[in-house]
Amino acid sequence: MKTRKIGIIGTGHVGSHVAFALATQGEADELVLIDIDQNKAVAQALDVTDAVSYLPHQVTAYAGDYADLKDADLLVISAGPLPAPDQSRLETLGATMEVLADILPQLKKSGFSGIIVSISNPADVVATYIQDYLDYPKHKILSTGCVLDSARLQSRLAQLLEVNRRSLVAYCFGEHGGSAMVPWSQVRVGGQKLADFIAATEKKNIHYAAILDETKEGGYVVLRGKGSTEFGIASSLVEVVRAIFHDEHKVLPASVYLQGEYGQTGIFTSVPALIGKTGVEKIIQWELTNKEKTAFDYSCQVIRDNYLKARELKILANTVRTKNQ
Ligand code: 2OP
Repeated sequence: MKTRKIGIIGTGHVGSHVAFALATQGEADELVLIDIDQNKAVAQALDVTDAVSYLPHQVTAYAGDYADLKDADLLVISAGPLPAPDQSRLETLGATMEVLADILPQLKKSGFSGIIVSISNPADVVATYIQDYLDYPKHKILSTGCVLDSARLQSRLAQLLEVNRRSLVAYCFGEHGGSAMVPWSQVRVGGQKLADFIAATEKKNIHYAAILDETKEGGYVVLRGKGSTEFGIASSLVEVVRAIFHDEHKVLPASVYLQGEYGQTGIFTSVPALIGKTGVEKIIQWELTNKEKTAFDYSCQVIRDNYLKARELKILANTVRTKNQ
């Protein structure tokens, strides 16, 4: 019987919660934790191991190295800083690029060939950069992207509509960040168009722009309150992993590589994607209104501009490294 082996690079707030969520939800048999701070990786692995007596099944967790990734099925990249409460995710790009400059060459050499799920911010830019750097098969890499934002959106909508969030089809598209948008025309409540549902229930307090603002602000409320977001992102990651490991063919609003879909090419951005054991199986193309298309295109442009910036930063990082050698 094959074990499900997952590597996690970056074991800070997010990576450690990812490890624990994978363990408690029974989605991993073997967890390899890698961190530039080896002591931290050892400590996180030991903490997960201590919990195993009371978990649903056996999990082997240990602090490892890149060589341990060779036969891993899946890799989570959660290294890099969380945004400060007054900082956008895009503003963490420089610091994340420094971290990636250390990780990616080692990952390339490791022989890892499984599915990569990247979390590090700015999520879409980083996923685009990693795919490009590794020249990785495009269907085998994705980012959690707006899986998390969509959970925040569904939570608010469910409260306002007084409908369980699992009865909603409501996704954020575009950047996991400030320019994310919602194609409201396509939101469904139990299969019914949102506008028709609202008209039928005479709910007066549904303001789309305010809901989107609250959705985007959600992560920052958490960041301001406790310094990091952990539970939401960890659950989002496990949802993606579950879809892959159980070949669920599940539609999730993850950040995936677009090759002409929605008129966009060459970037990762969130749209509904069918996810299964081979990774991204298919992009689902929704009919957007002109206004929605404009908002989505703008978000994609933000990602593209920052990806170009990331490439410049990498060149700078290399120059500095060469000079210092
Ligand atoms: C989040 O949205 C900060 O990107 C992180 O929770």
